[in-house]
Amino acid sequence: MTLPLASENRADHIAAVVVELRAFFAHHEGYAMLREQFEILLAERRAALAAGRPVEARGIAVIGDTGSGKTTAVRHLLRSYLPEAGEATAEVASFQVPSPATLKHVGHELLNALGYPMNRLPTTAIIWDKVRFHLRERQVKFLHLDEAQDLAISQSDREKIAVVNTLKSLMQNNSWPVGLILSGMPDLRSMLNMDPQLARRFHPVEFQPISAARSGGNIMQIVHAYGAKACLETASGLGEREFLERLVQASAHEFGRMIELIVNAIRERLYAGGATLEAGDFAAAFRRSTGVVDGVNPFIADQFQHLDARMLRGGVEL
Ligand SMILES: Nc1ncnc2c1ncn2[C@@H]1O[C@H](COP(=O)(O)OP(=O)(O)OP(=O)(O)O)[C@@H](O)[C@H]1O
Ligand SMILES: [Mg+2]
Repeated sequence: MTLPLASENRADHIAAVVVELRAFFAHHEGYAMLREQFEILLAERRAALAAGRPVEARGIAVIGDTGSGKTTAVRHLLRSYLPEAGEATAEVASFQVPSPATLKHVGHELLNALGYPMNRLPTTAIIWDKVRFHLRERQVKFLHLDEAQDLAISQSDREKIAVVNTLKSLMQNNSWPVGLILSGMPDLRSMLNMDPQLARRFHPVEFQPISAARSGGNIMQIVHAYGAKACLETASGLGEREFLERLVQASAHEFGRMIELIVNAIRERLYAGGATLEAGDFAAAFRRSTGVVDGVNPFIADQFQHLDARMLRGGVEL
């Protein structure tokens, strides 16, 4: 990833470095918990199948705020289990909950994810019969539903209960039980708790807010590792506690947002030239992505602890 700074195609080279950086997956505690839980469930399911014993499938609920990294983490985890094109079986299928999340639309999306799209929508019962048939045919052991909190919004209680019951029945199905991975915002927790039978079958994995006090050392290493990938040194100030607190604050305490900010800061440095990533690059990246004035830029403001990065968009002055 060396960058010929004098090249005419400098923007292209910088863009290529940024694309590489964005493709990199940074490991974190929430991901380690998710992977461990998934591997336990998958191993048990395979063992039960090998022994010819029936099992009731279990699920994992990945819960975190926007930007915590749920979609990225589940995608990274499942990448080696998703089928290649043309493969007859698939241990895992993944899809995003559609809007509106009616039973019919969810079933339709699921058929798409299984590789059996339907142009005309037949009745809900027919769709779900096909879903059950294909889940078994393709030997799908786990289904991932992203944005799963949407299953519980903007629809009638009757529809909500129908969706929840149908998902539960996939897990309890005698002939081919399917485990569920639901990822979503904290409302997902209340959705699962609506039904104690469902809640009991799920293992929660929470993507907790990050803090400089708890994981300052890790954060520093991540900044360093990303810098090194772009052949940049990191200024010594980036290891200081105050900078790490500013970075966490500017990321609204969310891991994924922090990574985005680090990559954006690196881009600023690459455009500015020079070999060292500095605090000013983070300030510039935050300014560019939010449009805020320096007085409310968490990398510049004195009272940065009170700034809510979620509210700082489009030049809002607090
Ligand atoms: N582990 C990671 N390694 C590298 N980058 C990450 C990681 N997790 C998240 N990101 C970055 O953060 C961005 C936001 O993450 P992601 O979309 O996974 O969050 P989310 O929790 O699914 O948010 P939402 O609830 O809004 O869908 C991603 O586009 C990616 O750039
Ligand atoms: Mg997401």
